[in-house]
Amino acid sequence: MSTPAVLGGTPLFESPLPFMRPTLPEFSEVAGEIGEIFQTGMVTKGKYLAAFEQAVAQHVGTRHAVGVSSCTTGLTLTYKAAELTGEVVVPSFTFMATVHPLVWCGLTPVFADVDPDTWNLDPDSAAAAITPATSAIVATHVFGNPADVERLESVARRAGVKLLFDAAHGFGALYRGKPVGSHGEAEVFSSSPTKLLVTGEGGIVATNNAEIARRVEVGREYGNPGNYDTEFPGLNARMQEFSAILGLHSLRMLEDNAKRRNHLVDIYRQGLQGVEGIYFQKIDPRDRCSYKDFSIRVVESEFGLSRDMLVQALRAEGVDTRNYYDPPVHLHTAYRHVGERYRGRLPVTERLAKECVSLPIFSHMEPDAVQRICEAIRRIQRHSAAIRKALS
Ligand SMILES: Cc1ncc(COP(=O)(O)O)c(C=O)c1O
Repeated sequence: MSTPAVLGGTPLFESPLPFMRPTLPEFSEVAGEIGEIFQTGMVTKGKYLAAFEQAVAQHVGTRHAVGVSSCTTGLTLTYKAAELTGEVVVPSFTFMATVHPLVWCGLTPVFADVDPDTWNLDPDSAAAAITPATSAIVATHVFGNPADVERLESVARRAGVKLLFDAAHGFGALYRGKPVGSHGEAEVFSSSPTKLLVTGEGGIVATNNAEIARRVEVGREYGNPGNYDTEFPGLNARMQEFSAILGLHSLRMLEDNAKRRNHLVDIYRQGLQGVEGIYFQKIDPRDRCSYKDFSIRVVESEFGLSRDMLVQALRAEGVDTRNYYDPPVHLHTAYRHVGERYRGRLPVTERLAKECVSLPIFSHMEPDAVQRICEAIRRIQRHSAAIRKALS
């Protein structure tokens, strides 16, 4: 039992443990409403989307919430609706979809570094990246850890630029005790299967700005305000009724899902306490992370193995992981033309990209599985010298 699987021992998980699974309502709970749609034929633009939007606006505490087909289309429409121009300061330690929509809107992403502890956009680095061409800052709540809203607001205010949030990981997170989603010009959520609130595919644009909400509504309808005379080139980015039904039920499960994930992370943190070279994301004690992902930093010189070696050893144990966010966006092939400009200028981002690994977490995951993963990591570290030799 004590030999790690990568060295020929028995894997801790007989059947591989998935990285994530969506937590869905019971089918019986949604069957009636889905059945109704089959009867009425109202598969899109119906009452369930309106109800879901209202429920999300109430939950988040914004005047408007507009349902869209994904967070990616939501961000694209929001960047357009907020009339951004020129350069937009954005982290590179984020998912690619924070940045791609800027390019689709003809904007220039300017990458800033992240904080070494919270892994969120560093307000000082964002401030330093602002030029006369900057129109906005976009920050991500990385892995569901609320961004440093207050300091980012102050940077944006002083520079006279707009502030927006990629809140893809935001459902379930609390900033100063209140649900994330009501700051800046707008916050854009994802409700894809990896999130705490699931609509299948989907997204929500939350905003207090009536004009942004109106433009996103028009934009998700090809740019057609209803008179067939398009106001601007839009998309088809509507959220379907099936998704909205799922969303309404999922919203009722959200608080429970967030509590469960925080409980699982308590077990992870306890189980990995004192393991040399493993570091956690810092969450402000006044906030709550949604733990859309639970990620750790592996410092090779202390742990005895690199992040990649740990990933390989965990795979042998039957544990699936993700290297979020490696490569960071500025080093993706799509951004190669600008990547050179950032060489050595985003040191925290590049270090985190090499050292971070996301471990399995989903809302209905068994606490016992978390304990076994911690056991696997401890066992791997005890044999780090032999594993290093075997893998080199
Ligand atoms: C930070 C971030 N932004 C945007 C997205 C895109 O979301 P969607 O898949 O709903 O388009 C994701 C997806 O996980 C994400 O992690």
